[in-house]
Amino acid sequence: MIARESVDEVLLRTDIQSLIGGYVTLKRAGNTYKGLCPFHSEKSPSFVVYPADNSFYCFGCGMGGNAITFVRGIEHLDYPDAVEFLAKRAGVTLIRDNNDRYGNYTEKKVDKERFYAMNVEAAKYFHRCLLSDDPKAKAALAYFTETRRLSMATIKHFGLGFAPDSYDAFSKHMRALGFSYEELTDGFLCGRNDAGRYYDAFRNRVMFPIIDVTGRVIAFGGRVMDNETKPKYKNSSDTPIFKKSRNLFALNFARLTCSEQMILCEGYMDVIAMHAAGFTNAVATLGTAITEEQARIMSRYTKKVIISYDADEPGQKAAQRALRMLEEVGLEVSILVIPGAKDPDEYIKTYGKEKFSEVLNGSKDKFDYRVENVLKKYDVAIPRDKIRALDEIENIISDINSAAERSICASVIAKRFEMQQAAIEADVARKRAQNARKGSRAEAENARRIAAGYGDKINPDFARAPSVAKHEEAVLGMMLLHPEHRRRALESGMLTREDFYTEFGRRVFDFLAEDSGVEPDEVFTPEEVGRITKMRIERMELSDNGDEVFDESVAGLKNAVQKQETKQVASGEELTKLIAGLRQKEE
Ligand code: GTP
Ligand code: MN
Repeated sequence: MIARESVDEVLLRTDIQSLIGGYVTLKRAGNTYKGLCPFHSEKSPSFVVYPADNSFYCFGCGMGGNAITFVRGIEHLDYPDAVEFLAKRAGVTLIRDNNDRYGNYTEKKVDKERFYAMNVEAAKYFHRCLLSDDPKAKAALAYFTETRRLSMATIKHFGLGFAPDSYDAFSKHMRALGFSYEELTDGFLCGRNDAGRYYDAFRNRVMFPIIDVTGRVIAFGGRVMDNETKPKYKNSSDTPIFKKSRNLFALNFARLTCSEQMILCEGYMDVIAMHAAGFTNAVATLGTAITEEQARIMSRYTKKVIISYDADEPGQKAAQRALRMLEEVGLEVSILVIPGAKDPDEYIKTYGKEKFSEVLNGSKDKFDYRVENVLKKYDVAIPRDKIRALDEIENIISDINSAAERSICASVIAKRFEMQQAAIEADVARKRAQNARKGSRAEAENARRIAAGYGDKINPDFARAPSVAKHEEAVLGMMLLHPEHRRRALESGMLTREDFYTEFGRRVFDFLAEDSGVEPDEVFTPEEVGRITKMRIERMELSDNGDEVFDESVAGLKNAVQKQETKQVASGEELTKLIAGLRQKEE
């Protein structure tokens, strides 16, 4: 738990405008600054920074909050890591205490600092072992330098290491440094056998430290030095400071050069080979298939991802899956096909980095790739198959947004199928018109639902009681903006949680009533903090937020809640009708 004073100091020493200015080009607009929102894609700026209020808000996507919220969102860090990140930036040393957020002293509290310290010590130890005189260490070093042909510079750059072939040499060393067996097992560095004896988790393996974006060692992967022993790799499981699904190998380096494009590989060794060859924008998942979280993280760092997985069938299947996952988060994606090698590592070794660069730039694009996949399914010598294949390919073309690209693709397919280009283009045009009709219907429906508050993920009760929810936002906005309203309302008993109707409204009220001094970011998700910020910003932009206005708003809220409750009593019957009506519409 980071002490309250530390958080305050971090916020005080962080100039929100210069923090955000490091990510977004900001233009002055009166007392505020405007720019293009980094959290959603837009063409005209709806992202506003309020320096006087130390806050930001995007009127387009609803993200908003203070410097901590911004860092949580943009760097994909959780609350303590975001505070840590800002502390580093502002040169503040964080003070930690054992109080939970209610101020209660808690005996057993995971001290993340201990875990970070433990992992960095482990990394140093493994690295030292790799360079030692022990014959087994020499074999490990030879594995890296000869078998995998890595330079010493690359070995040092990635902090590679060797876990000795010993039952407990590593844990003895760590114990001498003051780390307990409990800490070591919680950190996945030790295991415990049935007899209760502790042993080193990594033995006789070459070691790959996993480093997070703020530069801390958080976990390890260890590989055996032959191709027979199983498992080939052993990777840390999740620990208090490590989530496999949320980290990417080498993102700490790649983040510096990946703003245009990023290369996604399957293995540590592929990434290392790429970085060594100058492709420093390569990352890999940590021994698992790519997760939605990882896709989202990547979308924050880059625009385009080139998937470079193993050439074998499982590799290509995984590539397809990754492609869908990455497209889902709005990234441009292509799949790299490496002819004549099983993986990128082997390709670079066999053909050299210039050749790899050629393949990379001509990276067989998505269209070719998809066409190949369609053609694999059909025998185009059979007319029926040919028609089906053509139909599927036309679907692919009709999804392309650029007219020029569509025309090029149509001409390629025309040649390949020995057909008139015009015929293909006509089919594509028809498909596009169909899709547009479907799309605009879906869009209109979506707009209607959003306006009605349906699909409001932050406040799901909004749809049921829009009027009440709006009154709640007015009252809470004023309480958030002016501590004197908050105090008056709470001390006089003028408002209680029962006066609120939506679950979210109640939670925000509880947060204010608790008045524990913690940041909203500690309790709410970034999206929720955005909504809370919206409540404040909307009030801030109104000139009169005096006592009278507040009293009126409270009365307005109570009135609206009462009406809503009367409505509900009557609505049992109405609901049945409504559902019957909806069914009819569907049919
Ligand atoms: P080599 O070139 O053989 O060193 O491996 P690689 O880095 O190219 O990895 P490979 O394509 O074989 O596998 C991709 C990734 O999957 C590896 O980097 C590991 O993270 C993970 N992985 C591979 N084999 C195993 C295994 O046996 N167990 C676990 N847990 N993970 C594995
Ligand atoms: Mn490999």
